[in-house]
Order: sequence, then structure tokens, then C-alpha cells
Amino acid sequence: MPELGVNIDHVATVRQARKTYEPDPVWAAALAELGGADGITIHLREDRRHIQDRDLRVLRETVTVKLNLELACVDEIVQIACEVLPEQATLVPERREEVTTEGGLDVVGNRDAVRRATDRLNEAGIAVSLFLDPNPRQIEAAADLGARAVELHTGQYASARGDELRHQLDLLVGAGRHVRQLGMALHAGHGLNYHNVVPVARIDDMHELNIGHSIVSRAIMTGLERAVREMKQLIA
Ligand code: PXP
Repeated sequence: MPELGVNIDHVATVRQARKTYEPDPVWAAALAELGGADGITIHLREDRRHIQDRDLRVLRETVTVKLNLELACVDEIVQIACEVLPEQATLVPERREEVTTEGGLDVVGNRDAVRRATDRLNEAGIAVSLFLDPNPRQIEAAADLGARAVELHTGQYASARGDELRHQLDLLVGAGRHVRQLGMALHAGHGLNYHNVVPVARIDDMHELNIGHSIVSRAIMTGLERAVREMKQLIA
């Protein structure tokens, strides 16, 4: 069965909307662990729009499952990763104007920067995963650079409909086989939800799925009724 990495960035996004102390992603991580999460995933972005340096450092102390840090190939953030030592680092592309990570990392086009980041993280003993579109040239470049894992970007699959959906799933299956043949672990994520996760979880040798938006969205819906009831009781 694939492991589930729960991405809690959105909890920090809500906190940063008010720049206050709640909701705390550290609490969210503990609850995710209680729910059975095999890993906690966070993205420390250069613009610090959601997860803050404090979150990473406290989570390093409190998370008892795998801590997976998503980061761009930027010296400052790679240095932080090497100090904090998450079990895993997933290198992702990052643009300030994007709403979320759009597209996989272009390892072929940015080989030197990816190599520099991968080497530093590997030397620090952190397992490196590269977030890639299901593209054979990118997968081969990842193996070349010594990545331990490839996380396949499932965003295109998640937004596809009809025949295109089948095509996108076939691409993921083929890319997954390629990743395994090259000796790397197979991960997947982005846009996975309660409707589309099963075919991806069934891909041979799928080791880890990273899911954030749909889980946090569902948590709001399943928790809202109770939260309102508790406030009503206090007011009464
Ligand atoms: N994997 C990676 C590399 C990501 O950048 C993200 C989004 O932060 C996810 C998984 C989770 O995607 P979603 O929030 O759509 O589940």
C-alpha cells in the first residue's frame, strides 16, 4: 500500500491570512499523524507565503513520521534544509506569481542548479525526490543526478476528463515503470482527491502519495458543524 504524505501548507495559509498563531500547522501535523499519515509534507517557499521557518523547526522536533520538505533549488532554502535535516527533500520549481506549484521541475534545462542542490542535500544525508512531469528525458536526468525518488506530477491527470483522463493515467503508468527501472522510488502528487486517487494508488510499486488541498478542504467541511455548535454553546 502506498504511504500517505499529508501536505499541511493550507493550514499555514489560513493562519497567514491574519498573521496570527492559529490554526497552527504543528497541531495539524499531530492530528494528521493520529489519522494515520505516514508523512508530513510542507513547502518552505522563498516568499514564505504559508509555512514559516519556525514551523519547519518546530515540526522537525514534533513530527514522528517522515518529514518531507518541498523546496526550490535556491541556496538559502537548501542551506536551511541541510541545517534542519528533514528525512526527505522534494525539489520543486517555484515562481512567485503562481498560485501553487505549476508543472514539474525542468531538470534537463536546469541541470547544474538541480545537481548543486541534489549534491548538497545528499551529502547532508537527506533523501532527495524530484517533482517531475511524466516525461522520459526528465526521469533519465533525475537518475543521472542521483535522485533517490521521483514524484510524478499528477496535475494534468487530475484536471483531465474523458479519453484524456485515460491517456494521462497511461502516461503516469509508463513513467512509473521507467522510474522503477532506473532504480528510484516512485511517488506522486498534486490535485489528487477523494474521486481520482484510486487509479494512481494502484500503479505498480507506488511508494508515496502527497496530498494536501483535498484533505484540508474535507477537514473544513467535516469540522465546521462542530465548530459552530461549540461557539453557539459558549455564546449561550
Ligand atoms: N506534491 C508537490 C510536489 C506539491 O508541490 C504539492 C502542492 O504543494 C502537492 C504534492 C500537493 O498537492 P495538492 O495540494 O493539490 O494535493
